[in-house]
Amino acid sequence: MILITGAAGFIGGNFVHHWFERSEEPIVVLDKLTYAGNPQTIAAHVGAGRCTLVQGDIGDRALVSQLLQTHQPRAVLHFAAESHVDRSIHGPGEFIQTNMVGTFELLEAVRSYWGAMAAEAKAAFRFLHVSTDEVYGSLSETDPAFSETTPYAPNSPYSASKAGSDHLVRAYHHTYGLPTLTTNCSNNYGPYHFPEKLIPLMILNALDGKPLPVYGDGQNIRDWLYVRDHCEAIRQVLAKGRLGEVYNVGGKNEIKNLDVVQVICRKLDALRPKADGTQYEAQITFVTDRPGHDRRYAIDPTKIEREIGWTPAETFESGIDKTVRWYLENTQWIDAVRTGAYRDWVNQNYGARA
Ligand code: NAD
Ligand code: DAU
Repeated sequence: MILITGAAGFIGGNFVHHWFERSEEPIVVLDKLTYAGNPQTIAAHVGAGRCTLVQGDIGDRALVSQLLQTHQPRAVLHFAAESHVDRSIHGPGEFIQTNMVGTFELLEAVRSYWGAMAAEAKAAFRFLHVSTDEVYGSLSETDPAFSETTPYAPNSPYSASKAGSDHLVRAYHHTYGLPTLTTNCSNNYGPYHFPEKLIPLMILNALDGKPLPVYGDGQNIRDWLYVRDHCEAIRQVLAKGRLGEVYNVGGKNEIKNLDVVQVICRKLDALRPKADGTQYEAQITFVTDRPGHDRRYAIDPTKIEREIGWTPAETFESGIDKTVRWYLENTQWIDAVRTGAYRDWVNQNYGARA
């Protein structure tokens, strides 16, 4: 079996669905169930008995050790993190605690478990760390895309905390020989994405008749990757990745934020036209920029394509179509995540923006 941290969240939850479409190997999920964790996302697998959800903190070394002893996983896949850049600007403490201290405690528990394994199991064991392209900093429009050798230059408390976790994982491989793999991925989108992030926020605000808040001039570029393509990349890196190596994962979809929002608006015009005949684009509002806003991210996926044989299956056109349709059809999941805590966040982040 495999143990996954943070799989009640967006990417981890999609990974659980992706896994059970291809494997019967059971999963144990360790998730703190913060505001971003929703047990409903993986409830079908938990109900069917192939997935066990344990509510707990990756920073609780005793709990992690007990889970490792009880379930004897052949791999640990580490998705759990505080993941939202804007929240890290308003309150960096949780990001340091979970992403750095939590990853350290997790690594210590795993190191001890792995160290005591029998030789064959020890050789087969893997610790796969899921990280981000944001650790490489910001590109200008003409800079080459991030590769695995691009120097780290994180600009937000979020990306700095993820960079810290990456360095710890690297050090545990080099110092203790822990069989690690690290993936650094670009912006994901797709089903079960918490509506604090650009794409789900724009879909839901548009449908609610609310402003579509584009930061700054809307010309910042992200490299969008459909979440199931990311899940497949992780599955393949787990199976075929070279120990201690880093693999960058990208969608070859560099798009300006304003263009992303316009694509969403046009998709909604077609699928859910407004009763008054106006277009969703009229709801776009330019608001005060994110402090320290990175201008451009782009991934050079040559290494994962060459060594692992992975390439993304979705284009942005096909992926955004699936995504918008999913949000139109899954109102129960959406209503459940838009709790009081979510509404407080919206007031905190957008209330003070001009
Ligand atoms: P998310 O915020 O949707 O989910 C995070 C999950 O981790 C939640 O279920 C939450 O409850 C859990 N969690 C938080 N703190 C925890 C703790 N201390 N102990 C146990 N569980 C805890 O995040 P996501 O978008 O699914 O991202 C998953 C991983 O992928 C993160 O490591 C993130 O840095 C990385 N990543 C995300 C993207 C993206 O576009 N979303 C891109 C590249 C990398
Ligand atoms: O690059 C990978 C990263 O992608 C992950 O490591 C992070 O966990 C994930 O949250 C994401 O970070 P971003 O900051 O790029 O994603 P976000 O959806 O918050 O913002 C995408 C872009 O849209 C960014 O340039 C800021 C802009 N934006 C965002 C919001 C929420 C807006 O213009 N308006 C908004 O309301």
